[in-house]
Amino acid sequence: MSEFIPHFNQQLGKITPSPIRQFDEDCTSIEGIIKLTLGEPDFNTPEHVKNAGIKAIQEDFSHYTINSGLIELREAVRDFFQKKYRVSYDPQGEILVTVGATEAYSASLLAILNPGDKVLIPTPAFPGYGPVITLAGAETIEIDTSNNGFVLSPDMIEAAMAEHGDQVKAIILNYPSNPTGVTYTRQEVIAIADSLRNHNIFVLSDEIYSELSYDDHHVSIGEFLPEQTILISGLSKSHAMTGWRIGFVLTRTAIAREIAKTHQFLVTAATTVAQKAAVNALTVGIDDGLVMKEAYRERRDFVFKEMTDLGFEIAKPSGAFYIFAKIPAGFPQDSLMFCQELANQHRVAIVPGSAFGVAGQGYVRISYAADMDKLVEAMKRLKAYIQSK
Ligand SMILES: Cc1ncc(COP(=O)(O)O)c(C=O)c1O
Repeated sequence: MSEFIPHFNQQLGKITPSPIRQFDEDCTSIEGIIKLTLGEPDFNTPEHVKNAGIKAIQEDFSHYTINSGLIELREAVRDFFQKKYRVSYDPQGEILVTVGATEAYSASLLAILNPGDKVLIPTPAFPGYGPVITLAGAETIEIDTSNNGFVLSPDMIEAAMAEHGDQVKAIILNYPSNPTGVTYTRQEVIAIADSLRNHNIFVLSDEIYSELSYDDHHVSIGEFLPEQTILISGLSKSHAMTGWRIGFVLTRTAIAREIAKTHQFLVTAATTVAQKAAVNALTVGIDDGLVMKEAYRERRDFVFKEMTDLGFEIAKPSGAFYIFAKIPAGFPQDSLMFCQELANQHRVAIVPGSAFGVAGQGYVRISYAADMDKLVEAMKRLKAYIQSK
């Protein structure tokens, strides 16, 4: 037989590994480095949730669940979202339990996209969506929000729709935002919903940070635009459960039915033990996220003040656990160069803004989901770097 020459999915050739993980790994070899790179809570999963998981193992919850997830979990999801965000979804047909928010948005995008479709994404944006869009043969259209304090406006939506028209299949919203921490008021969400209602497109709204909104109560676009919205959420951030891999899709039955197909054939169902723990998180631990939020708020205030004093320009974040800061004049304006210099010379790793789209060039992202001692030391080192010039 002649030599085997593998030919892969051509779309994969257009995808590179996550730039955040890549930079994080590149910094690992620097001795004593403080990493403020990954978007991962430093808290551990609450004890009562862990105990629910242990109990589930002991009680032999070791079999598959139905594809859409345990009904008791879907009911808990309904109650949690109804109580917290005034959205109403039927556990019989409108809620899917997924493997993290990652599978929730991936299964959703694969269910709605055809080759040649376009997807609008306000940027800077979380870099997880683009590769899935590419895999589906569709195209990402970035809407640069950097001149508007990273806030998407109805005018921007109208301009993008006028330019790309019928080819647009969906828009992805993410608020509170990774990487900017920006979120939307009730009035802003209503204005965006009013604009999107005029267009025949899906609204994939990734609200995974909804429990981490500092000033106002989080407002879901699912409250105003349920016919078009695919609401994405999960327990990774609200309950410090990144490793349990539990996410949710909430959407109208006709849409959920199609997403259920991609979900079923990609993963069958989320892990049974994690689903049992998730029931406990959403019922016994309904307000667990609020305790963590107070700790994050204190850290945000600290990092925001330190960096502003050092000359960084920052739109004050009102949610999630990130600071997105403009690199001051006199420093490398290429965000990768800035981050490399900081990491190599002063042993602090933060993420280049360019990882979040063209609009992120000239910025850096700091994840402040780290303990205060670490943040204090990181700010000392950042100060030393800034003052060295
Ligand atoms: C905006 C956003 N969506 C989704 C995810 C992934 O969430 P999960 O761990 O539930 O897959 C992240 C993780 O950082 C995120 O920031």
